Amino acid sequence: MDITWLGHGTFQFVLPGGETLLLDPWTDGNPAYPKGFEIDRCDTILISHGHFDHIHDAIPVAKRFDAKVVAIYETCHWLGTKGVENCLGMNKGGSQKVGSVTVTMTHAVHSCGISEDDGSIVYGGEAAGYVLTFEDGRVVYFAGDTNVFSDMALIAELYKPDLVMLPIGDLYTMGPREAALACRLLRAKTVIPMHFGTFPPLTGRPNQLQSLAPETKVWGLTPGETVTW
Ligand code: NI
Ligand code: MN
Repeated sequence: MDITWLGHGTFQFVLPGGETLLLDPWTDGNPAYPKGFEIDRCDTILISHGHFDHIHDAIPVAKRFDAKVVAIYETCHWLGTKGVENCLGMNKGGSQKVGSVTVTMTHAVHSCGISEDDGSIVYGGEAAGYVLTFEDGRVVYFAGDTNVFSDMALIAELYKPDLVMLPIGDLYTMGPREAALACRLLRAKTVIPMHFGTFPPLTGRPNQLQSLAPETKVWGLTPGETVTW
């Protein structure tokens, strides 16, 4: 499969055969979004939580491609009120098959208010992460926005992820020190760092994580770069 980091917490997965997943879509206004990158297919959108930098473009992309949207129940309900029709709500510990991918929702330690256009913030349920199990048996853990938490050890025990995507920027999520412990709890072989460098306060960097987690391969991507995994 091809994985493209679209900056911040946004990723595109293109599976063999073309099925396309978008994780936490933030394109419009994302300072790290690769200029000129066109999303030309989207079958499934996964949303970890309702903060604008993770949900901002979910509605237009879902409507444009008639994509399925996966989110926690309350965020799905909110999306429904905005005219998103194919929202597949779920909650932590549950799994569902979406396209060819089995999607499991996990815990995350973060908040989940959704900003309305009038400036108010509404309840979006809780922040979550996802375990994605692909048809070939490989497993990705996408943590979303979170601090490290000891129950990451349960995610390792239950799902044995082959690839882990962790925020490392600090301030709104964990930084490299916490992410290094997350790598150990997850027994991560390979980690793709995210949620850093978008704004100056997101100071964590992949090389810092690599020096703190020598037993894990830190796979630092550049926004817009497509890697095959
Ligand atoms: Ni957030
Ligand atoms: Mn965020």
